[in-house]
Amino acid sequence: MLPPAIAADDQTLAAAAERVMSRCDRLACCSEEAGAVTRRYLSHPMQEVHHTVGDWMRSAGLRVRVDAAGNLIGRRPGPEGSRVLLLGSHLDSVPNAGRYDGVLGVLAALAVAELLGAAPLPFHLDVIGFSEEEGVRYALPYLGSRAVCGGFDPAWLERCDPSGVSMRQAIEAFGLAPDKIPEAAYQPDEVIGFVEPHLEQGPVLERAGLPVGVVSGIAGQTRMRLRFLGHAQHAGTTPMHGRRDALLGAARMICETQRIGAGADGLRATVGFLRVAPNATNVIPGEVELSLDVRHPEDALRRRAVDTLLELGAEIARELSLGFSVIDHVVQEACRVDPRLTSMLHDACLARGYDAPMLPSGAGHDAAPLSERFPVAMLFLRHPGGVSHHPDERVDVPDVQVALGVLLQFIHLLAESESQ
Ligand code: HGY
Ligand code: MN
Ligand code: MN
Repeated sequence: MLPPAIAADDQTLAAAAERVMSRCDRLACCSEEAGAVTRRYLSHPMQEVHHTVGDWMRSAGLRVRVDAAGNLIGRRPGPEGSRVLLLGSHLDSVPNAGRYDGVLGVLAALAVAELLGAAPLPFHLDVIGFSEEEGVRYALPYLGSRAVCGGFDPAWLERCDPSGVSMRQAIEAFGLAPDKIPEAAYQPDEVIGFVEPHLEQGPVLERAGLPVGVVSGIAGQTRMRLRFLGHAQHAGTTPMHGRRDALLGAARMICETQRIGAGADGLRATVGFLRVAPNATNVIPGEVELSLDVRHPEDALRRRAVDTLLELGAEIARELSLGFSVIDHVVQEACRVDPRLTSMLHDACLARGYDAPMLPSGAGHDAAPLSERFPVAMLFLRHPGGVSHHPDERVDVPDVQVALGVLLQFIHLLAESESQ
């Protein structure tokens, strides 16, 4: 049983879960576009998110700061000199997103800090809202968590977003100092680990009729930007034979991506972005850029699939007399979760009456880059249809309540373990 100082009765947990949901609704209004949830890295609505969540953190007695990479951090202080548990997720979103991906994990972490009240813990608790996990604005995911784990490459500051704003300019415009990003890094010896509550973004828990699951690993991912280069010509006067149509090349590449992706268990291969130039009805496309997102739990298999796709792209280009190049290439290796924290999370589920399944994550998470430097563990929440990266994303209050109870129990087990 939890000592009285940490336990929370069902009524308290239910109220906390309701508050998490209403706060998710409030943050859904912080968007770059009316009527949709779109919140890219250091976009203007992120200021409002920092202001709003920062106020909630301060009301919970947390010490609030924003680091140079734009991460929002609320510290619940433990004894001087103790280590810190990081608990949270990301605050940014994909375009036209749901209102729970990332945000739910940050607000669940804040709710745990509130539920803890004045309970003494043998460690600091940092509630963390990462600034950029999705990688939409600069085609580069995990900017916030890479800064926290000391993996931020200063060369990224020169990357420009589609409107030509460099990352350096965006960080300065947000009122932060890019050259101070190295100071955002936590040191390995000060961190107990990072725990991320997150929607499953898949159907497994719902099909099993279970509210929560514990993540066994996160698939590695390769994100690339490819370019086919042909020759823009008049659509009406240029014979069909002998055209150098870059969009035809991209179209064949998209079909090959689908074929290769469907060809191996657990493999995912997706083209989600396409830029056609000059993008006019009566002009044969001279240049096309397309994204490639390839994922698999095993890095070697993912790499083989990427190599196969690049060979196919080169072959298509030869057949159609097109140029073919890779203009961007970002890799996140598969993530190994920490055995100690993961089994403690599983024990917390058991103690709360849930024999939570272990399940892999096909979606990327901030826990992946952080696992390169700190122990990590993830708790998944069931949500209807597993729908995510879409406005229809939903989560049920009772499942949020279950997750809060599990997280509180986890904190209790960790406090016991750290006190020994
Ligand atoms: O793309 C992903 O897997 C994550 O949602 N960022
Ligand atoms: Mn997410
Ligand atoms: Mn996402």
